[in-house]
Amino acid sequence: MDLIQWAISPVGSRVPIHIAWFLGWVCVAAAALFMVGHAIYVGVLAKPRKFAANDSPEVLASISERVPRHSLVSRAFHWLMATSMFVLLITAFLPKVGVRMNWVTCHWIAGLVLSALVLFHIVHASFFLDFMSIWPDMTDVRDMVRRLRLALGWNSPLPNRFAKYPPENKLYHFLILCSGLAVIVTGLCMMKHVNTFGVLVRNPYIFGDMTWGLIYVLHGLAGVGLIALIMVHAYFGVRHEKLPITKSMVFGYMDREFFLEEHDPLRCRSVKNGTDQF
Ligand code: HEM
Repeated sequence: MDLIQWAISPVGSRVPIHIAWFLGWVCVAAAALFMVGHAIYVGVLAKPRKFAANDSPEVLASISERVPRHSLVSRAFHWLMATSMFVLLITAFLPKVGVRMNWVTCHWIAGLVLSALVLFHIVHASFFLDFMSIWPDMTDVRDMVRRLRLALGWNSPLPNRFAKYPPENKLYHFLILCSGLAVIVTGLCMMKHVNTFGVLVRNPYIFGDMTWGLIYVLHGLAGVGLIALIMVHAYFGVRHEKLPITKSMVFGYMDREFFLEEHDPLRCRSVKNGTDQF
């Protein structure tokens, strides 16, 4: 069972050409298994979550009934990115399971849209949002250990509530970042391999057969990884205890009660800086 499809190049060497497409099903199965395992764990085994919380009256007074979370620009970015990802997944994998369609043009156009959105997001997040909010800090590391100890039934002080994002979401963002950048960089190269009607001049000779093979394999691997990541993301998005988070990606705010239950106002930039988003 080979994870890669191979071919013989014109000069007679064995070169990789694609991933083996059954890896797509492996990722679907892995994501489905994770979802079932998680649902059973939360429904049957997990204890109710407990956090250390001791907000001063001044902090409590500063939190409004609707706590702003995502600006209109951030929400528009999220849903446009989701749409382009969806189109990319459909156009990439339906032909692999036997659906006959002219997928390549639609695929690279959606790829260019995703690339432009990600470029925009990098600038937006670096200069207009709280760049550090999506990276784990030492409190996250300490609290991950505390949460693990409590989950195992061991003694531990209670963890703090989260900053803007829980550490799990920060890890997810990092995985999406790596796989997203991998499909974008390899996808942009692959546009030189296909007819893009003049958007890029076709030149399959800029790389040798081995390099092309590795580019296609990396694109495929990151692509199937994204199937699993996006399935898991959608699963958490529709779980009832996460609905307030999903709602905030639609309407832009969170209810005060949910915010104070899960988030530490003093770890959120808005409360510290008086900005309109935490
Ligand atoms: C969710 C993101 C993406 C997924 C899941 C994905 C998946 C795939 C897959 C599975 C293939 C077939 C590869 C092969 O034959 O070995 C492919 C081909 C291709 N992709 Fe993507 N891709 C994504 C993003 C992108 C992006 C961002 C671009 C461009 C900017 C792009 C451009 C291309 C091109 C030009 C091809 C080559 C088609 C060919 O040679 O026939 N893709 N993609």
